[in-house]
Amino acid sequence: MSTLPNLSFFGKKVLITAGPTYEKIDPVRYIGNYSSGKMGYALAEVLADMGADITLVSGPVHISTNHPNIKVIFIESAIQMYDACMQVFPQMDIAIMAAAVADYRPAEYSANKIKKKDESLTLELVKNPDILASLGDIKNAGQIVVGFALENNNELENAKIKLHNKKADAIVLNTLNNNGAGFQHETNQITIILKNGAIFEFPLKTKVEVAKDIAECVLKML
Ligand code: CTP
Repeated sequence: MSTLPNLSFFGKKVLITAGPTYEKIDPVRYIGNYSSGKMGYALAEVLADMGADITLVSGPVHISTNHPNIKVIFIESAIQMYDACMQVFPQMDIAIMAAAVADYRPAEYSANKIKKKDESLTLELVKNPDILASLGDIKNAGQIVVGFALENNNELENAKIKLHNKKADAIVLNTLNNNGAGFQHETNQITIILKNGAIFEFPLKTKVEVAKDIAECVLKML
């Protein structure tokens, strides 16, 4: 006996960000982070299986997808991710920001490879735009914006502050205080905090199972 597919997201357009951003220093160097992109790609696949039409804005990762409902836009820097998101967001019903966006970038890009000279080198960094907060600012009443928060102290309090400051509808809190969770792991342990104050705690699960929990939560907000 076959079961009918769950197409709860049929007709919904969903923007998902995934992976790290790379901030160029010179032609051979960059500032990056250890994000694997697995959480964002799992979300894209789970929601696409549920009928959503996905635009996945992806930083440099070693994973891929060939799901027919997923269109991937590859970017490298936070500014490029910001531009891609701002361009597509007006057409979206939902945005889920799972990328580990670099908070800062080098103030200047050196077109020539920086030569080794002095005993120390100081790089000046400037702040990148906050993509989640920018979408929170422009979203209309019908759009849902979900962010992530990576915290290792005062987790719930900090996540609630992020939810409020970035005008998100929900924040998925990832703790760094669990050995199996987060960056470079197959598993994740999350708590979802909704704008109305509701809090849902989940045990350690695979990122695909975590993506299903997030999908269920988003469904309730639609
Ligand atoms: N985010 C973003 N643009 C940025 C930085 C973060 O869109 N320039 C998003 C992330 O994709 C995530 C959320 O904001 O959904 C929170 O990211 P996090 O790194 O936890 O928070 P920050 O705002 O960078 O704050 P801090 O690093 O000080 O904790």
